[in-house]
Amino acid sequence: MAKQSSFTCSSCGAAHKKWSGRCDDCGAWNSIVEEAPLSAGPSKKSLGAQRGSAMILTDLSTEEPAPPRVKSGLDELDRVLGGGLVRASAILVGGDPGIGKSTLLLQATASFARAGLKCIYVSGEEASAQIRMRAQRLNLADAPVQLAAETNLRDIITTLDKERPDLVVIDSIQTMWADNVESAPGSVAQVRAACHELVTFAKRTGTSVVLVGHVTKEGQIAGPRVVEHMVDTVLYFEGERGHQFRILRAVKNRFGPADEIGVFEMTGEGLAQVTNPSALFLSERDKPAPGSVVFAGIEGTRPVLCELQALVAPSPHSQPRRTVVGWDGGRLAMILAVLEARCGIPFTGLDVYLNVAGGMRINEPAADLAVAAALLSAREDAPLPADIVVFGEISLSGALRPVGQTENRLKEAQKLGFTGAIAPMRSKLGSDAGLKIQQMSDLTAFVGEIFGAG
Ligand code: TYD
Ligand code: MG
Repeated sequence: MAKQSSFTCSSCGAAHKKWSGRCDDCGAWNSIVEEAPLSAGPSKKSLGAQRGSAMILTDLSTEEPAPPRVKSGLDELDRVLGGGLVRASAILVGGDPGIGKSTLLLQATASFARAGLKCIYVSGEEASAQIRMRAQRLNLADAPVQLAAETNLRDIITTLDKERPDLVVIDSIQTMWADNVESAPGSVAQVRAACHELVTFAKRTGTSVVLVGHVTKEGQIAGPRVVEHMVDTVLYFEGERGHQFRILRAVKNRFGPADEIGVFEMTGEGLAQVTNPSALFLSERDKPAPGSVVFAGIEGTRPVLCELQALVAPSPHSQPRRTVVGWDGGRLAMILAVLEARCGIPFTGLDVYLNVAGGMRINEPAADLAVAAALLSAREDAPLPADIVVFGEISLSGALRPVGQTENRLKEAQKLGFTGAIAPMRSKLGSDAGLKIQQMSDLTAFVGEIFGAG
C-alpha cells in the first residue's frame, strides 16, 4: 500500500508528497499544511458503528419508493433541497464566515421543528445562551428545538444515538473534535474524520445531518471542499458583504437538481425569503444607461432577470485591466476576442470592467450575448432600450446559438414589464410570447442592427 502523504491542501483536501506554496489541484495559495501521518493498522476504533457484519446485497430491480421528504415551509430552502429534507441524508452548507449560515440554519431548524420533526442544534462556536438570545430576536424562541454547545464528537454521537432526532445541525464541522484522531480541530484529518462519523451516523439511524462549513481563504482550517464528496448534498450560501441579498445555491444534490437557487434578504429580524428575485435584482435600475443590459437567465428551474453592467475606459496601463464580478473571467476574454476577430471591434488599450448587479453570480453561457451587448454599449457610449432583455450563447465563429428554456425567459420578462427581447435565430419561442422579439443569426448582424455599423 502506498505510504500516506503527510502534506494536505486544506482547501481541496488533495494529498501532496512535499510542501509547496500553491496547490496543483485547486490552485489555492498557502493552503498546504503538514498533517500528522495516520498510524497504520486497524487499531483505530470507530466512534459509532459496530463493524464487521456481512453486507446486504440487493438486485438493481429492487423496488425503491421515492425518498420521503419533509418540507420546512421555507419555500426558498425546500426548493434548493430538491423539494424538502430527505431522511438519512447528509447536507453540507458552506459559506464565508459571517455570511449568515448560523442564522439560516437556526431559522430552518425552527421551521422543521414546528413541522413536527425532532431537531437538535449543536453549536461548537456559540454558547447555548447566545443561540437562545438570537432565537428570541428572530422570534423563534417557541420552536421545539433542543440546543447543545459541544465540540467533542464522541459525546455528540453518544447523545444523538440516545435521542435519535430526525434532524441534527452541526455548526460548524471545523470546530468538531474526534478524540481518535491525533490532530488539531479544523485540520483536514479532523474535519474528514468528523464528517465521516456524522455521515455514517445519518445512514445508520435515518437522522438527517446538516453540517456547517466555513470557507477559508487563509488555509489555517480545512475548507468545506475537503468533505464535499462525502455528503449527499452541497449547498453554498453566497452574497456580497455590502449587499443584503444572500443566495443559497445547490452545487451537488443526490436527491434533486443541482444549480437550484434560493434567494434571501438579511434583515434586522433574520433572513427573509425573496420570492420574486427578478424584481429585486432590477430594483435599482432607473434610466437607460450605457453599459447596462438586462439578461434573462435561468437558475435551476426558475427564470431570473438580472442586470449586467460594463464600463470601458482608456487604460493608463501597458496591460489593460479586465475585471469581472459575478461572471467567468475566461468567458469574458473569449467574448472580447470574438468581438475583435469576427466583428473588427478591438478592445486594445481599453480597461474593461464587468459586474453583475445585486451580488448575483451567473454561470450560464446564455449570458454571452448580454455580456457582448453590455461591452459594446459601454464602448460606444450608447444605451440599449431599457425595456428589452437579451440572451444567447456566442460561439467562437461569432454565430449565435439558441439556449434552453427560451419560453420561460420570455414569460418572466413579460411579467416584469419588458416589451422586447433580442435572441438567437431558431430560438424556440413558444406559442405567444407577447414580446417584440428580434432574432439574430450572428454577432456581426447584432452589432449592425443595434449599434449601427459598429
Ligand atoms: P451568522 O449567521 O452568525 O453568520 P455565519 O454563521 O455564516 O458566520 O450571521 C452573522 C451576520 O448576520 C452578522 O454580521 C449579523 C447579521 N445578522 C443580521 O443582520 N440580522 C439578524 O437578524 C441576524 C441574526 C444576524
Ligand atoms: Mg455561525
